[in-house]
Parts: sequence; structure tokens; C-alpha cells
Amino acid sequence: MCGIVGYTGSRQAYPVILKGLKRLEYRGYDSSGVALLKNGELNVYKKKGKVAELEEFMIGKNIDAQIGIGHTRWATHGEPSDRNAHPHHSANGKIAMIHNGIIENYALIKQDLVKKGYQFTSDTDTEVLLNFIEDIQTNNACSLEEAIRIALKRVTGAYCILIIEKDNPDTIIAARKGSPLVIGIGKGEHFLASDASPIIEYTKEVVYVNDYELAIVKPDELILKNLGNEKITPYVTKLDMELAAIEKGGYEHFMIKEIFEQPSTIFDCLRGRLDAKEGLIKMSGVDENIEHLMNANRIIIIACGTSWHAGLVAEYIIEELCRIPVEVEYASEFRYRNPIINKGDVIIAISQSGETADTIVALEKAKDNGAFIFGVVNAVGSSIARISNAGAYTHAGPEIGVASTKAFTGQLAVLMMVALDIAKHKGSITEEKYAELLNELESVPEKVDAILKNADQLKAIAEKYKSASDFLFLGRGYNFPVALEGALKLKEISYIHAEGYPAAEMKHGPIALVDENLPVVFIATKDLYHEKIISNMQEIKARKGKIISIITEGDNVSSEISNDYFCIPATDELIAPILTVIPLQLLSYYVGIAKGIDVDKPRNLAKSVTVE
Ligand code: F6R
Repeated sequence: MCGIVGYTGSRQAYPVILKGLKRLEYRGYDSSGVALLKNGELNVYKKKGKVAELEEFMIGKNIDAQIGIGHTRWATHGEPSDRNAHPHHSANGKIAMIHNGIIENYALIKQDLVKKGYQFTSDTDTEVLLNFIEDIQTNNACSLEEAIRIALKRVTGAYCILIIEKDNPDTIIAARKGSPLVIGIGKGEHFLASDASPIIEYTKEVVYVNDYELAIVKPDELILKNLGNEKITPYVTKLDMELAAIEKGGYEHFMIKEIFEQPSTIFDCLRGRLDAKEGLIKMSGVDENIEHLMNANRIIIIACGTSWHAGLVAEYIIEELCRIPVEVEYASEFRYRNPIINKGDVIIAISQSGETADTIVALEKAKDNGAFIFGVVNAVGSSIARISNAGAYTHAGPEIGVASTKAFTGQLAVLMMVALDIAKHKGSITEEKYAELLNELESVPEKVDAILKNADQLKAIAEKYKSASDFLFLGRGYNFPVALEGALKLKEISYIHAEGYPAAEMKHGPIALVDENLPVVFIATKDLYHEKIISNMQEIKARKGKIISIITEGDNVSSEISNDYFCIPATDELIAPILTVIPLQLLSYYVGIAKGIDVDKPRNLAKSVTVE
């Protein structure tokens, strides 16, 4: 949440920062701003609204500077407004700062500062931290760097901060704890950002800054230190990402681009890992740690949101194939409970961004208790990838649309391979079933492609139901988590209230909602539960609910009961969720579009939830 960008070098800083903010806008978009420094003059410009509004506001302003910082905000403390937008000035006007995170003890610090006569121009915790730094610098007559170090030792919470100072014409000081920071290394220039997307255009050499590290960044020099003022050698890595991956490539929105990318992202995920002909799955993260995984007494899956839904599907699959008990936990609950973690428990962490604050803290807690952590992460080099003892990347490429789509199907594909690999080693799957599932999995990209070719059918369905005020999503077995995911997607992108339920559970309450105005989406593919779900559809029909169903090609029974239906190719029930979720992603997208919603940036949301 919140995107931050910084530049110091010989280029004009503002265009670099503005472009970077546009790329990071998925992290928050209720206000944005820049601070530019030239010849001892520190100019701060900020505006409520999306980055486009800042861009317009900047027309005619003095933007000449070779150093600057910029921020796009997702509000935590203080409503979205010009005054709460970042960057913030310190009281003496000498320093400007941007911040991603939350300072939890800001109220106490603020009380002290107010007693000393400080006045605040915003409601933010950021301005409090900044004036705290200024106060320490004044009282101790020390350098800004030293003051930052002292302040950060006293604050609790999460932060990634970038600071520039009037008297320091070419230096950005940055620090992180719990919120991400990447530094791109150019020739005589450095780029700082929340993720690599603002950097990739200029350089592929990057340093991922770790928690409790401070970076002193000049055009020709990058010094990393810990909070104890000891130097650390920066570890430079090469970005494995192309600029095209973070651009819309002719699509109207990132969300639809990412939905349509799924045949290739799933293919990339399987590539080099799955060989159905040879009957092989090769996942180094699994194979090198097979003893841990195969002999786990219990697997605990920790995630949030859509990734949590992938975890629910994985629970069914792992228990079925590996015969290992699985529990799926919301990271935000797990971190505050006193969970029982025993020797021999394995944690699987699932995250697209790899930066979700609740998941990170939950994993740290599990790790402290001696758990082995296996990460299923999309963002390479992210915090969760680094916390994990082992793992497998989903290889879905950068996901920029706020609603998660291709990352989810990548997670399902990875988790399926992990389960198959463990089951094979453990001997808990028959040769025939293993071969059958490998073949099915290999054919998924082709089947997804076939589904996408009929996307227009979902556009028509969306048009028909766009005015509904509520939706119900029902599924059984492996498709129950898909029902939850379908409801979440629709809520996020169309602002229509939606609930997902196991189809049979509907009778225990939600059926009271059913009348002729309620669209009920059934995920009713041919599987073990098919006849049961047909009965559930009849129950809805008898109460005049409108049935939209996702069914297997050739299923005449379900299609006849339904008011509208969409067919997907036949597949094994364990693999079905990778296919059944795609029509639901499209349905949400088209409903959102039909309602005129900015689907890439729906209200109140941010892509990467880096605050708890
Ligand atoms: C929904 C969505 C969120 C995320 C959740 C976890 O479309 O994107 O629910 O799934 O915030 O994020 P990650 O996977 O980055 O940990």
C-alpha cells in the first residue's frame, strides 16, 4: 500500500518519478505528490486523487531538478486530501519525506512534539515521524542520517521512507522495515521504488533493501548500513522482467490483459517443471526438501484474500493426494492467535505480492516457533520469498490490476504440482492417477485458451445482470473455494454485494435471500457432486432465483435448468478450479466495465496490502 519512487542522477527527476508513480498506482491512488530539490530550493507539490490529477496540477510548475521523491497514497491516518498527501515537509521546511507503512506509536510521539510547540499541517503519522526526526536532529546537532537512525530505533510499526534535505543537494536517505524497497543502479544515477516496475526501463541491476537497513543514495554511490551504523555490502541482483510485462499491450485495462495472459502464464508456470510424457514433475524447492514435506505431520497454509482461496483448493488437493492433514489460516488471524505449531509442521505461505504485511508477520511467528516455511510467491525477490526456507515461484509475471487473476491460476498450478510431487515421493498416489493428472495439467493452457475465445458470452451475461444488487455464488468440493473467489472478484470490481457458499450450505440460511431478483452463480462442472449440485440448482429454481451456471461441455441437464450458462472443457475435478475461475473473472470484469467502474483501481483497494 502506497507507492514510493525516488531519483538522484543527471536526468530530470520529475518525468522519471511521474512515470514511476503511474506504474505504482496499483498500490494506492487516493492522492499523490512529489518533492523536487534544486539549488537549495525544496518544492513540494501534491494533489488529492489519482496520479493523472497531480500531472495536470503540475502543468506550469517549476519541475527543474535532478533529485526528487514521489508518492502515491492509500490512506491509513487521515482522509484522502491534499493536506494528507505525501510528501510532507518538516516544521522548519528543510526536509521532505514520503512513507509507506504505519507508525503505530505516533500518538505518543505527537503529544511530546506538540508540548514542544510543534504544529501539524496534516493528520498523518508520517508528518509525526518527520518532525520527530527534525527534533532529534536539532536537539542533538547531528546529521540527518544520525537523526533518522535514532528515530527509527524508537518507532514501532512499519515503514519504508525516503527523505531529502535542502542542505544535501544530491542525497536521498531511505530506510525500511516491513514495507518494500528496491534500489536500481544506473550509471551515475540511482532509482528507488516500492517495486521494480518504475526501475526496469532504466536498469536491470537492483538491490533489495532489507528490514532495519538504511540506504544513503547519491548519483555515484550507494551506502547501505544497519541501524547500528555498520556498513553492509549491497547484494546486487539482476531483474528477470521485461518492460512489456508491465504495460497494457493494447488492452483497455490491466485486469483484462492479465485474464487473457493466463494460457501463457500457466504455461510458463508448468514449463521446465512438468513433463507429462516422461511422467515427471521437477520442482527443486520440493525435491530438495522432500523429507520435510513428505513427513509433515500437518501442513498449515497461511494467506490472505484470493491467495487464501488458492489455499482452500490446495487443502482439498493435498489431503486427497498426499494424505497429510491441512489447515488453512487467514494470516491476520493466525498472527494474533497463540497457534499450536509442532515440530514436523510445514507452513505453506501463498502470496502474489510477497509483501502482504499480515502474511509476513504470521510467517515470522511460525518461523520463530521452528516451522519450515514453503513459499508460493509470484513477486521474485519479495519479502515472503526471502523469509521462506524453500518455495516455488508462480511465474505469472507482474500482476498490476488490483483484482488478482493470473496469480491465482498460477498459484493453483504450482500447488497442484507440489501436491503431485509430494504424493509421488510418498507413494500416496497410484501411477495411473499421477499420469492422468499430469496429462490433464499439461492441457490446461489450451483449455484456458478455449474458454477465453468465448469471453463475449460472459459479456452478454454481465450486461443482463449488471443491475442486480446482490449475487450468490455456489459450488461444492474443489469448486467451493472458486465460489468464494467469484464472489470476492465481483465485490471488488463491480461493488455489487456478493457471497460465496458451499452449495449445500445454502439451505442453512442464505436461501432466505432467494427471489426472482437474485442471480445465483453455480459452479456445476461434472464431478463427484454433480447430481447433488443439480438438486441445489432445482431448489433455487423453485424459488425463482436466476441461475447462471458454469458447466462442463455437453451437460444438457444443467444447461436446461439454468437461465444462462457458460461451458468449459471437461477436466479432472482436482484441476477444474483453474478453469472454472476464469469465466468468473470475466463476468466480474464485464459487470465492472458495464457499470463504468475503473476496474484496475476500484475504490478503497490497493494491490499490495503492506499495512495490517
Ligand atoms: C483480491 C486480491 C486480494 C489479495 C490479498 C493477498 O483480488 O487481490 O484479496 O489476494 O490482498 O495478497 P497477496 O497475494 O499479494 O499476499
